[in-house]
Amino acid sequence: MNILTNKNHQKVVLVGDGAVGSSYAYSMMNQGLAEEFVIVDVIKERTEGDALDLEDAQVFTAPKKVYSGDYSDCSDADVVVITAGAPQKPGETRLDLVNKNLKILSSIVKPVVESGFDGIFVVAANPVDVLTYATWKFSGFPKEKVIGSGTSLDTSRLRVALAKKLNVDPRNVDAYIMGEHGDSEFAAYSAATVGSKPFLKFAEEKGITQDDLDKIEDQTRNKAYEIINRKGATFYGVATCLMRITKAILRDENAVLPIGAALNGEYGLDDIFIGTPAVINAQGLASVIEVPLSDKELAAMKSSAETLKKVTKDGLA
Ligand code: NAI
Ligand code: LAC
Repeated sequence: MNILTNKNHQKVVLVGDGAVGSSYAYSMMNQGLAEEFVIVDVIKERTEGDALDLEDAQVFTAPKKVYSGDYSDCSDADVVVITAGAPQKPGETRLDLVNKNLKILSSIVKPVVESGFDGIFVVAANPVDVLTYATWKFSGFPKEKVIGSGTSLDTSRLRVALAKKLNVDPRNVDAYIMGEHGDSEFAAYSAATVGSKPFLKFAEEKGITQDDLDKIEDQTRNKAYEIINRKGATFYGVATCLMRITKAILRDENAVLPIGAALNGEYGLDDIFIGTPAVINAQGLASVIEVPLSDKELAAMKSSAETLKKVTKDGLA
């Protein structure tokens, strides 16, 4: 029984049982989230094998019905998480994936909606901001019920890097990467704080220079390439971000998280899904938190939005 939402039984459907999807499934099992977990993929055998493997983990986490299913299982699901899509190859950008992954996405969203699904979509497949927008368009759902992983992973990467520099717990670094989950993302340093102290003041006192901060922003922006070049893909970081977003929905938390959110005038932008802090609860996106950005950061947000709008327009044309 979830005391917050008074629901005895919560159900999540994962579409895409690859590196990201199976890592997410394992993370959800470890956290004991959702009483029912369904795995859907075009490779049916993989989902059957994963379900049989995952069910053995419940003895030391929490009882859960986990099984291989299909789109009809979405009808009474609370959340559908979409990780299905081709990943980047070394040297490829996320935006390079747009055409092939939009095709995959359209083959998924339609049957999910036809099942009678009326919960929250969480999208991770790349380019995630474009595919989140496309999920909203293809589904006809209210914008608030479509959430992208956005810059959640990038924000984690920034916090880890800054925490190492400041010698503090990364969970206490309130700093965000915003914009595209991709090459046009930026660090909103001017609004960051550590223990309610302005981050830039803290950094100055620690002898961290603007050059250091630029380097950290760059390393964060390019960390995916570093990982992909070494191990072929990234999946544990994003899987944990997806688990955290799902938890905020299932527990009706009103959690403040960096996600890919629909904007309605914030930052002077609309008709876009893009990385920003937002409040997440059982209804999906409760509200966008419009961060007070510096002029330079606001310009970066608008430029990132322009990049995304162009790719989205071309992709959905
Ligand atoms: P993967 O290739 O390991 O897994 C993709 C899965 O999707 C495969 O199991 C495949 O069978 C399945 N699939 C393909 N077409 C399908 C369809 N029509 N219906 C159902 N399932 C289908 O790839 P990986 O590494 O898991 O990455 C998945 C996506 O997540 C990629 O687009 C990748 O770029 C993205 N990603 C996003 C991140 C983020 O922060 N938003 C971070 C890491 C990866
Ligand atoms: C990442 C890519 C794969 O940021 O989206 O890990």
